[in-house]
Amino acid sequence: MLDQIALRAELADHYDLSPSTETAEANAHLYARMSRVVSPPDWAIFAPYVAAINRLKAERNAVILAHNYMTPEIYHGIADVVGDSLQLAIEATKVEAGVIVQCGVHFMAETSKILNPAKTVLIPDREAGCSLAESITPAGIAEMRARYPGAPVVSYVNTTAEVKAASDICCTSANAAQIVAAQDSDTVIMTPDKYLAQNVAKQVPQKRIVWWDGACIVHERFTAQDLRDFRGWNPETRIIAHPECPPDVVAEADFSGSTSGIIDYVAREQPPKALLVTECSMASNISDALPGVEFVGPCNMCPYMKKITLENVLWSLHSMQGAVEVDPEIAARARVAVERMIDLSRRLSA
Ligand code: 13P
Ligand code: SF4
Repeated sequence: MLDQIALRAELADHYDLSPSTETAEANAHLYARMSRVVSPPDWAIFAPYVAAINRLKAERNAVILAHNYMTPEIYHGIADVVGDSLQLAIEATKVEAGVIVQCGVHFMAETSKILNPAKTVLIPDREAGCSLAESITPAGIAEMRARYPGAPVVSYVNTTAEVKAASDICCTSANAAQIVAAQDSDTVIMTPDKYLAQNVAKQVPQKRIVWWDGACIVHERFTAQDLRDFRGWNPETRIIAHPECPPDVVAEADFSGSTSGIIDYVAREQPPKALLVTECSMASNISDALPGVEFVGPCNMCPYMKKITLENVLWSLHSMQGAVEVDPEIAARARVAVERMIDLSRRLSA
C-alpha cells in the first residue's frame, strides 16, 4: 500500500478530484439523499470522488456493499447495497459482479469472501477492524467448549474467519435470539459479545446462555444514566438502542434491534424526536428520508468503520489492491457456520 501522499499523487495523475460545483450539480440526484447532513461546499468536494468511483465501478464490473455505519457520501453516493450485517451477508450470496468492494469492517469483507471464494473482495483499508473480532481466537472457542462440553457455539459474525470456522453456527444482532432459541441444547455458548449474549438471555429465558468476555468499544460506552438523564430533559424522545449496548442501557430504551431493525422502526413509527443509541452515521443516513423526525442526543463514532473513505474506496478500485484472502480450508468450515445461519434465519422468518 502506498503512503497517503503517494496515493494522493497517483490518484491525482488519473482523476480530476478538485472540488467542482459542475460535478456536484451533475450528481444532484445523489446529493438530494443527503442534503440535510452534507453541506453544498462539502458535496462539491465529495462529488468528483463519487463520480470517479461510480465510473470505475462499471469499468471493473464491481459492486459496493456498504454497512449502515458508513458516512452519508458513501452510503448514498456510491453504495449498490446497504444494510446490516445479516443483509450484507445475504446480498453477498447473490452478487454476480466479479469484484466486491466492502465498505465496512474487515470481518464483513471476510464474510463476503467466504461466501464468494472465486470473486475478488476488496477492503479499502485493512485497518478497519472491530473490537469484538479482535477479542477472541479459535483457542478461546476451544476453551469455552472445554468449559461447557457439548454446548453449541453460536458466534457473532463480528469474528474472524478462523473463529467462524471453529463455531457451530453464526448469528447477527438481527437473528441472535432466534438462532439461540433454535439450538438443540439447554446450554448455548455465545461469543464474543457478552452484552449481546446478556440481552439475548433475557429474550430466550428457556436457555442457559454462557458468554465470552468481549464488547464493542462503541456501544459499551453508553450508560443507563445517560439515557435516563436524556429522557428527563426530553420526555417525548423515542430511545432506540443496538443490542451491543449493556443490558441496563437496552432496558432504558423503547426499542432495541440491529442497525436495519433500528432504521425500520424509526421509519415505521416516525417519532417527532429519536435518540439512536448507536454509531453516529446511522442518524445522518436516514435523516433526509425522514424529515419529520428530529434526531437528538449523543452517539458514538466507530473508529474502525470510519477508516473507510471515498479516497481509499477510489484507490482500491483504481489499484485493485486490498484483496481479502481466506485460507480455503478455513473458508470452507467458516462457510458452513455462515450458511447455517442464513438458512436457519430464512426458515425461522418464513
Ligand atoms: P448490525 O448487524 O446490527 O448492522 O451490527 C453490526 C455492527 O458491527 C454493529 O456494531
Ligand atoms: Fe465492531 Fe463496534 Fe465498530 Fe461494530 S461498532 S464494527 S461492533 S467496534
